[in-house]
Amino acid sequence: MEPASPAADWSALLAHRDAGAGATLPDGPFAALFGPVLAPPAAPDGCRVIGRLAQTLDGRIATAAGSSQWIGGPGDILHTHRLRALCHAVVVGAGTVRHDNPRLTTREVPGPDPLRVVLDTDRKLSADYGIFQGGPPTLLVCAADAGGAEHHGQAEVLRLPRITGGGLAIPPLLAALKARGASRIFVEGGGLTVSRFLAAGCLDRLHVTVAPVLLGSGIPAFTLPEVARIADGLRFAWRVHDIAPDILIDAALDRAKPGGHP
Ligand SMILES: NC(=O)c1ccc[n+]([C@@H]2O[C@H](COP(=O)([O-])OP(=O)(O)OC[C@H]3O[C@@H](n4cnc5c(N)ncnc54)[C@H](OP(=O)(O)O)[C@@H]3O)[C@@H](O)[C@H]2O)c1
Repeated sequence: MEPASPAADWSALLAHRDAGAGATLPDGPFAALFGPVLAPPAAPDGCRVIGRLAQTLDGRIATAAGSSQWIGGPGDILHTHRLRALCHAVVVGAGTVRHDNPRLTTREVPGPDPLRVVLDTDRKLSADYGIFQGGPPTLLVCAADAGGAEHHGQAEVLRLPRITGGGLAIPPLLAALKARGASRIFVEGGGLTVSRFLAAGCLDRLHVTVAPVLLGSGIPAFTLPEVARIADGLRFAWRVHDIAPDILIDAALDRAKPGGHP
């Protein structure tokens, strides 16, 4: 997958990042994979949303104890940093901050750091995590009734309504990010967070790295509403990219909802 001149090709792609709807995507080895990421938003909310996970062959994103470093190889890490650089905001769930204490920066590639967004309904995460203590701008997203001050460490607090059954509604989150100028959204994990975006019909593309590893147990990649029949499962087109020793699947979800449920 790696091109002969990745630096020049990557610079051309970065230059295209905010070039506007009429601009022509540069030809090159990155076009097939990142063209759909940089495509103009097609959904009425004006956002382009890309989910991503790295999973084992048996569909796990971490061990049962929460260790996930590293399921994918160096190509997957590079790919994740490229997605951060191409998107305006990167979203993670509270579980990922709790287990990984991530920085969510673009230190592996040239490119801007995205706005960092942490979903934590009841504001259970301590403000001591590094992501709240400095670095690029950060939002802590919680329920409107979660209480507390308007900052969480150095992160700004964004309050959203709860949905029935718990959690935060995704469409108001996208609207709030769009209002801040962040229309290309990268949902980096973990499994519950990506699954909630998927179940809400809020993913345009889904990138799944599959690594040649079997764990036999662990945190699942996807947790979605049950369907009774195979025919009710969500089917989609995909392209497979070689990032040896892993494969990278680019699924064209186009905001489809699994099982057709709301
Ligand atoms: N392999 C990979 O690609 C990858 C990527 C990232 C993380 N990980 C690993 O995955 C594990 C964490 O994944 P996970 O699936 O357990 O958790 P997660 O998705 O990181 O976080 C789940 C939590 O985030 C909050 N959240 C997410 N979406 C929300 C929404 N729409 N509304 C409200 N709250 C929302 C909820 O917190 P509340 O329950 O407090 O409401 C939920 O319990 C860690 O072990 C991490 O190392 C792996």
